[in-house]
Amino acid sequence: MNANSVISLINLLIKLCLYSLSAVMVWENTMSVGVLTVILTFYGYLTRNVSSVSQRYLDSENRISYIQKIYDFLHTPTEKVWDGKDNLQVSKGKIEISNLYFSYNDQSITLKNINLISFPGESIALVGKSGCGKTTLAFLMLGFYKLQKGKILIDGKSLNECSLKSIRNQIGLVQQNVLIFSGSIRQNLLLGNIHATEREIWDACKAAGIEELIHSFPEKLDTVVGNNGINLSGGQKQRIAIARIYLKNPKIIIFDEATSALDLETEKEVLRYWKKLFSDKTSIVITHRKEVALACDRVAVMNNGEIVEVESVDKLNQTESAFQKLFTSEEKENA
Ligand SMILES: Nc1ncnc2c1ncn2[C@@H]1O[C@H](COP(=O)(O)OP(=O)(O)OP(=O)(O)O)[C@@H](O)[C@H]1O
Ligand SMILES: [Mg+2]
Repeated sequence: MNANSVISLINLLIKLCLYSLSAVMVWENTMSVGVLTVILTFYGYLTRNVSSVSQRYLDSENRISYIQKIYDFLHTPTEKVWDGKDNLQVSKGKIEISNLYFSYNDQSITLKNINLISFPGESIALVGKSGCGKTTLAFLMLGFYKLQKGKILIDGKSLNECSLKSIRNQIGLVQQNVLIFSGSIRQNLLLGNIHATEREIWDACKAAGIEELIHSFPEKLDTVVGNNGINLSGGQKQRIAIARIYLKNPKIIIFDEATSALDLETEKEVLRYWKKLFSDKTSIVITHRKEVALACDRVAVMNNGEIVEVESVDKLNQTESAFQKLFTSEEKENA
């Protein structure tokens, strides 16, 4: 039973008691019908206000729990069990993953002998069938799970030695479901960098192609979005995510199916912004879409927890590649 139902039930019980008591008092002539009318009118007025106050309280509780979720996400509890204390400072953005194995449980191995090098400023698409381990690999790069076997080096520094806070500060993540919480556009953008100035926020909006849209709202950056405000389209939310990550300005960005909810045209437009803005960043782009993969420099194909092919995009068409096979089989499945 949720809090709303509890409040309604309490209201009903009070009403029942009040009506029964009043009926007895009127019956015994200890209360006049006039007084009864006044009491019931006053009671109705009181419950409406109590409900409205409690509803406001519940709304603010929801909002707090939402903010709590974001806070938890940014400060996952693993911080307590994570040994690394050094400050990760990414200057070039080189990622080296070697002999990495990972299991969620004793029954199966999710990632097997992963070896991958991503050079500074390069974009690597990570493709493969659903469940092959792409997101797990991304989460390991962000320190969401402890490494069990193998290494991840960022600019030569082992992730294990770095504090989680510094890892998350230096590596950005954009996922499919962009986290837009009920609040102003400004508050949503400041999640990227709480210290950003007004000028920097507007620069980010311009870079992400949402400056004009925000200017069209009477309240500009103070426009409330999310549940209690205006609804943004999928493409607009993605642009908020781009502006947010632009403010955060990490050298390494992981996109996990960030544009998969968009239609192809909007996705292409969002991709154009990505390429322009993040050309100097190292990016890992997890995708199920061939067009998105082909917009990257190289492609790593995963199968059943392993990387089975790493190839530059120009060479993909020349050989009988795992990439070709993957997308040919997916096209057949979707046909
Ligand atoms: N928290 C978890 N606990 C246990 N098993 C998990 C957990 N998360 C994922 N898995 C399992 O690990 C495997 C890899 O999952 P992962 O999410 O990394 O795949 P993916 O390649 O990202 O798939 P998709 O393309 O559908 O997003 C799957 O078999 C999945 O069921
Ligand atoms: Mg995934």
